[in-house]
Amino acid sequence: MATMQDNQTWSGRFNEPVAELVKRYTASVDFDKRLALFDIRGSLAHAQMLAHCGIISAQDLSDIQRGLAQIENEVINGDFVWQLDLEDVHLNIEKRLTTLVGDAGKRLHTGRSRNDQVATDIRLYLRSSIDDIITLLKALQTSLLDLAQPHTHTIMPGFTHLQVAQPVSFAHHLMAYFEMCQRDVERFGDARRRVNRLPLGAAALAGTSYPIKREMVAEILGFEAVCQNSLDAVSDRDFAIEFTAAAALTMTHLSRLSEELILWMSPRFGFIDIADRFCTGSSIMPQKKNPDVPELVRGKTGRVNGNLVALLTLMKGQPLAYNKDNQEDKEPLFDTVDTLTMTLRIYADMMRGITVKLDAMRSAALQGYATATDLADYLVKKGLPFRDAHEAVALAVRFAEQRKVDLAELKLEELQQFSKLITNDIYGVLTLEGSLAARNHTGGTAPQQVEAAIARARKLLSA
Ligand code: ARG
Repeated sequence: MATMQDNQTWSGRFNEPVAELVKRYTASVDFDKRLALFDIRGSLAHAQMLAHCGIISAQDLSDIQRGLAQIENEVINGDFVWQLDLEDVHLNIEKRLTTLVGDAGKRLHTGRSRNDQVATDIRLYLRSSIDDIITLLKALQTSLLDLAQPHTHTIMPGFTHLQVAQPVSFAHHLMAYFEMCQRDVERFGDARRRVNRLPLGAAALAGTSYPIKREMVAEILGFEAVCQNSLDAVSDRDFAIEFTAAAALTMTHLSRLSEELILWMSPRFGFIDIADRFCTGSSIMPQKKNPDVPELVRGKTGRVNGNLVALLTLMKGQPLAYNKDNQEDKEPLFDTVDTLTMTLRIYADMMRGITVKLDAMRSAALQGYATATDLADYLVKKGLPFRDAHEAVALAVRFAEQRKVDLAELKLEELQQFSKLITNDIYGVLTLEGSLAARNHTGGTAPQQVEAAIARARKLLSA
């Protein structure tokens, strides 16, 4: 009959060993070993509490601490031998601990189950990942500000429907992304609060008969609170879904920016250049310089969205409480953290490698009648109802288009055909600078406003 010596923690009740293929199918150690250091931290806190409550002896605690310290070193140095036969990170570490310290190692699992253990590990891992991600987001925000700062007077066309709409400054355009990143920072901070609760103590699902102190474990591990229902504690993965949703949204923002960088770098726009270290050439077309990094960011957004759908789908049919399905939460989660972390790291640097081509931006803004709205507003301010002004300007644009000139290039008499209200002061209104300066309110593109927005943003980042 199989015994504990066969590396089978539960084998006492089994008549035959698990099939090889099933072992490989059910094992998670290949990927969950990344939780090792969090697993050790959780175990240390658990053991400390067990000793404090008199559930294990002080000697057991010190043996466990000694053993786990050695295991921690082995993991950090890459010397730890992971065994597929031991299924997952938890059983690998426990087995090693028992080899190192004997019975004390076998007592560590008192009052605990892998169900609450794994939920605790993931939360510790995710909390630390969120902290890294927030730091990286802030670094990207700083890059955006540094790129924006000298360009509050750099004029480019603002688009709607990807058609030239109204002139905006390049700084104003970039600051839109600062706002998105700021919401991302807030969202991750908010999600962190719900990640930061302790499941340990729920044991398998119903709690444990030992006189444990969950609050003590929470305090040692820096959790803000303990999960209030044992069934929920072991089966909840909302926090992972929320995190992934926040990540998908951040990737979506970066994907939009990537799409713009790609367009802007295309010779048809020629608004920017991206430093060579972020681009590659073509194996066949010698003239090519491709914006690979933004393209991959756009592509990898699909992968993170996929992870979100995977997690939602993973949960939707699960009855309470823990089910093995939950083991499938890790790969999408880890992949999301890795993808987002790397993307943010590259992006912050890439924004520093952008060269702005002022002339191309300006000449694009001069095409497409970007100041037509300014002419309409001018007429309204002189008493014409807005709809009539809209119509008069539409006719003026058509006239200019036929002559292939900009509105500002029409003679006063020509403009006056469309409204007698137009006088010589119109030319100040029709310039790109005049158009920008006129939008002088919070959130507007006037240089003064964008400078103020950048100053506010810097203050926010340094807070
Ligand atoms: N490797 C498992 C997971 O990731 C740990 C929990 C296993 N619990 C169990 N009752 N089989 O979910």
